[in-house]
Amino acid sequence: MHDIQKICQGYLQAIQGVTHLAALEDIRLKALGKSGEISLLMKSLGQMDAEERKAKGAEFNHAQQQITQALQAQKATLEAQELTARLQKEWVDVTLPPRQERLGHVHPISQGMAEAIDILKSMGFSVADGPDIESDKLNFDALNIPAHHPARQDQDTFYLPDQNGETMVLRTHTSPVQIRTMREKKPPLRIIAPGRVYRSDYDATHTPTFHQIEGLYVAKGLNMGHLKGCLVEFCRRFFGRDDLKVRFRPAYFPFTEPSAEVDIAWENGKWLEILGAGMVHPNVLRNGGVDPSEFSGFAFGLGIERFSMIKYGIEDLRAFYVPDFRWLAHYGFRATDDLNVGGVSS
Ligand code: PHE
Repeated sequence: MHDIQKICQGYLQAIQGVTHLAALEDIRLKALGKSGEISLLMKSLGQMDAEERKAKGAEFNHAQQQITQALQAQKATLEAQELTARLQKEWVDVTLPPRQERLGHVHPISQGMAEAIDILKSMGFSVADGPDIESDKLNFDALNIPAHHPARQDQDTFYLPDQNGETMVLRTHTSPVQIRTMREKKPPLRIIAPGRVYRSDYDATHTPTFHQIEGLYVAKGLNMGHLKGCLVEFCRRFFGRDDLKVRFRPAYFPFTEPSAEVDIAWENGKWLEILGAGMVHPNVLRNGGVDPSEFSGFAFGLGIERFSMIKYGIEDLRAFYVPDFRWLAHYGFRATDDLNVGGVSS
């Protein structure tokens, strides 16, 4: 066998054995690159006499063609293999059903809160805020709750370590926001204070954390009639019944005088107690820096859990606080843009 044929065979074999495109390129450069073995042989033709050049030229050309063809064929094979491997690796079954999207739900407490706030805002109340950790001065004393009042006892109130010599509690109601607001702003003022409250209590109708909305309206010449009008309107709108019967029963709260408990007539004529209210006690106005001879006010406090249970037909209070997605999917709400649930302060 001639030299050139040997060389050519060597390359053809090497090409056959290559498994990667990169290695194939190495061989191409070694044979056919600028200073590749075959290229150099081609160049050497220039030094030969005419006869030899003719014979060798044909052989070299033949070798070059064979190698070129082999390279092309192997390249096509390897590319096809690579594509098949990639298709297999990146295979997507487009016939699979889509994974179910799990949409979250707005919790009935958030929903009830947002609906109540929306209505009260439209009635001219603006949202005020206060801390969950409150001094017992604001939670009790400033609200005219006497030192011996049972609500102050350990079994009802969560006491916290003193801060700067002050006794601190987890607020037992949103009413301290009344004092905070009056100390901050001059009347007339009309606020609601939504948020969490805490009591040391747990049974079918009580949970240690729950939610209230406080309402406070202080201005000149306010009386019980204004309070009644406001709460009847609010209840009818919240429960979506224009003819809802609302009843005011005399009651006692240390921070209001006179005080009332408010009931609504629900299904089968049953009266349900839903909130506490009254005219702000003169002592409370004074503690807020408001002159009771000039201004009067009314206040109310409602429990959101109770309102939501009635409106949405939820039987067990404790279910509100169990993280059960099936319950939430059933009793929860789709988030909508018009109810600004995220804007509820807590
Ligand atoms: N703070 C009272 C409670 O938690 C409710 C209330 C608020 C009553 C305002 C009267 C006026 O029970």
